[in-house]
Amino acid sequence: MKKNLYIYCSGGAGKEMADRVMKIQKMNGGGYWNGIYFIDDVRTESEYYGLKILSYEKFKNTVGRDRAEIIIATGEPVNRKNLYEKVEKDGFNLATIISPLAMVSPTARIGKGVIISEFCIIASDTLIEDNVFINYNCIIGHDCKIGKNTCLSERVSLGGNVIIEENCYLAIGTSVINKAKIKEWSITAINSAVIKDVPENSIVGGIPAKMVKYNDSKKVFK
Ligand SMILES: CC(C)(COP(=O)(O)OP(=O)(O)OC[C@H]1O[C@@H](n2cnc3c(N)ncnc32)[C@H](O)[C@@H]1OP(=O)(O)O)[C@@H](O)C(=O)NCCC(=O)NCCS
Repeated sequence: MKKNLYIYCSGGAGKEMADRVMKIQKMNGGGYWNGIYFIDDVRTESEYYGLKILSYEKFKNTVGRDRAEIIIATGEPVNRKNLYEKVEKDGFNLATIISPLAMVSPTARIGKGVIISEFCIIASDTLIEDNVFINYNCIIGHDCKIGKNTCLSERVSLGGNVIIEENCYLAIGTSVINKAKIKEWSITAINSAVIKDVPENSIVGGIPAKMVKYNDSKKVFK
């Protein structure tokens, strides 16, 4: 049975997701999903960017579990984590959305709720865990592992065998040397060059990347 797709969050990442899934819809003769909607708990209007909006409460109480799949469209790791845990607990399925303009190795393992955006390359034997968001134009080298809820902004490049743990955020243009490990809840600033391991809860920046401060707030966008 065909399902409806619900894009959870209608901010910038939500609009970009709408463009992506409308393209997938068109490529499948308009019939990949029955319908595409936003879920948003902040917006008050009933429609945005050409799609109807439901609150999560309305969605939860009116839409059948077997007729819906959700994709979480926010780049803030703590929000990705909280929304993921909520929809899982409520028994909904997560979609995995891979842009038709991305190149994904047949040996890559991709979890549920993952977003792979346009012009990304995901190389051999990578592991992308649940609910990871990879934005435009990223290159993920062979044998990399990216942990749950992590977000890679535009133009991130990872050498081979890199490990990014859960709940991290790599800002625009970050490069990571092969075999480096970025531990959980850490953030890299724009255009960072990471050449050694990054401890958990750290914010690093610069070339080479150095510690800037601790990620006490667990927020990228304050
Ligand atoms: C890393 C980041 C989250 C830090 O933001 P913040 O917590 O508000 O911190 P601040 O901007 O106050 O910067 C803290 C320190 O880091 C330094 N810093 C910030 N960006 C840096 C960079 N790219 N390289 C080196 N140092 C940097 C600042 O100069 C400041 O140093 P100071 O304390 O000596 O003055 C933010 O700079 C960032 O990169 N955000 C993500 C941007 C992004 O990817 N956007 C995409 C949206 S789609």
